Amino acid sequence: MSAHQLILAPLRGVTIRLYREVWARHFSGLDLAVSPFIPLVTGSRVKPGLLTEVVPTLPHSIPLVPQVIGRDPAALSVMLKTLRDLGYTRADLNAGCPWPMVVRRGRGAGLANRPADLRQMLASGCQAMPDGFSVKLRLGIDSPDSLLQLMPLLNEFPLHEVVIHPRTARQMYDGSAHIGHFAAAFAACRHPVVYNGDIRTPADLTALQQRFPTITRWMIGRGVAADPFLPARLCGDTTPRDLTRLRAFLDDLLDTNCATLSGQRPVLGRMKELWYYMAQPLRGGAQTLKRIQHSATLDEYRCAVDDWFAATPGWKPDTNGIDWTTDTPPKTGEY
Ligand SMILES: Cc1cc2nc3c(=O)[nH]c(=O)nc-3n(C[C@H](O)[C@H](O)[C@H](O)COP(=O)(O)O)c2cc1C
Repeated sequence: MSAHQLILAPLRGVTIRLYREVWARHFSGLDLAVSPFIPLVTGSRVKPGLLTEVVPTLPHSIPLVPQVIGRDPAALSVMLKTLRDLGYTRADLNAGCPWPMVVRRGRGAGLANRPADLRQMLASGCQAMPDGFSVKLRLGIDSPDSLLQLMPLLNEFPLHEVVIHPRTARQMYDGSAHIGHFAAAFAACRHPVVYNGDIRTPADLTALQQRFPTITRWMIGRGVAADPFLPARLCGDTTPRDLTRLRAFLDDLLDTNCATLSGQRPVLGRMKELWYYMAQPLRGGAQTLKRIQHSATLDEYRCAVDDWFAATPGWKPDTNGIDWTTDTPPKTGEY
């Protein structure tokens, strides 16, 4: 493993098990993946259907940390025991999901508004998964100052690590990341911190490493979905991205989806979802995405993809994901 650790972010509907396994057949550079969240359900046992995403991975696949979402400490305990029985020694709590319905119910980012619930969840998680329990958060719901205020609570527990996405829940995935507020939360955190957000290019990672030289763990989601070569590029691979490899990956992904799902619609749905990200760094990507989104059959999808590769327009120049003009200290400025 290199000095830094690259972690695939959970993207529900995108970085699912099948995607991760196909990706690992064609690309390299990721040390770990966190699964899209599994909901916690009350009861004394976990229904096997909830665990299909995290049944132990194929030997060559990316090592996995299962992620859960919920606010019931007893359900968390049952889930983590089940995951331990499957062989997992790590698990992550989603305390960052920004969807308003999730937040209103006190789950995901909503936990940040309920410190008593969060405390119980952390206590239950650390007890059920000793040394292996982590939490993934945002800077707050409305204010990017909230996480800093919550940090003493997080510091009470023996967490494995804390993953921070430097946006508020209100921002969803838009607007600029608040790097200054992230810096404040990072400085106040006694646990290893994983930075997560907007890493799109090697220059993004370099700039972050210069700003935060003691951070060694980096989580990347949309950047990998957009450019499956990105992890290798972040590890220093400067060879031009080979379109033949990209084609082989996409064909494998399509075939594996077809072999796993029944009917064209769900397969098309998955490929459309991925192409939403993949089209972004490709020349001519917008037009191809439009054709893919309008495809009603797999044949139409294949034609759109064939035409893009036949034209071989390649990649746009890199566009960095992080906007450093917003790297301002938080108003509370206590670091
Ligand atoms: C479509 C989509 C699904 C996501 N699903 C999850 C999830 O299941 N669990 C989670 O913690 N974060 C989830 N996220 C947030 C990402 O893990 C990540 O924090 C966010 O995309 C910022 O990182 P990035 O800029 O590298 O993508 C999701 C984001 C998107 C766009």
